[in-house]
Amino acid sequence: MKETDGPDRGSAIPSPEGHRFVPALGFAALTPLYDAVIAATMRESTFRRALLAQAAIANGHRVLDLGSGSGTFAILIGREVPGALVEGLDADPEMVEAARRKAALAGSGALFHLGDATRLPFADASFDRVVSSLFFHHLSPAGKRRAAAEIARVLRPGGELHVADWGAAPNLLMRSLFLAVQMLDGFENTRENVEGRLPELFAAAGLEGVASRLTLPTVFGALSLYRARRPFE
Ligand SMILES: C[S@@+](CC[C@H](N)C(=O)[O-])C[C@H]1O[C@@H](n2cnc3c(N)ncnc32)[C@H](O)[C@@H]1O
Repeated sequence: MKETDGPDRGSAIPSPEGHRFVPALGFAALTPLYDAVIAATMRESTFRRALLAQAAIANGHRVLDLGSGSGTFAILIGREVPGALVEGLDADPEMVEAARRKAALAGSGALFHLGDATRLPFADASFDRVVSSLFFHHLSPAGKRRAAAEIARVLRPGGELHVADWGAAPNLLMRSLFLAVQMLDGFENTRENVEGRLPELFAAAGLEGVASRLTLPTVFGALSLYRARRPFE
């Protein structure tokens, strides 16, 4: 059983390595249901395909999927761009194991690391792309800033960040639907998402060309796609 220091969510779970993280569906007990819930509710194929197209990953690229969860997106990238070296990182040992099992079943060469997005175990300027889906809203405001700084550090000059996560709600319906996510993953962690402030965080980390590309309505609110680039020195 996992050790907790309060409710089983909201940065309450330390992993064996001491990372603190909000589980994929807010509560650790729900993690085994994650793939089924996302497939049923998130227009999954549409948003993953849109993010993949936006990222324009090429053969030879080294790609990091931050908060890779059960590995669905990293495995998709590896299938669509077989010449890319794809690595996922997640703070939840259960998710890392699930991703490794799925990759083995799919015959994927994607690698999955246990780690904390706010302290990445990678060298400076070592990735061509950092991608991330449904992840940033799991971090505290300070955690978002540390993760953005880490992304800027590990991207090569000219390397790109591509993110799909909850964004500003375009109407009251989308805002109301998002309350369910806020109750699961925490109001503080999700606030800057729904205020549409992720682009500002990426720019503050030194990334340039920050843009919001697409907003997709889902049953849990509006999902936005963002891009940003590490400047050439
Ligand atoms: C909603 S899931 C998204 C998973 C996957 N990216 C996807 O698109 O299905 C969020 C993931 O972020 C991970 N996570 C939360 N905090 C983290 C942190 N500080 N560092 C790395 N991963 C973290 C959780 O363990 C969870 O697997």
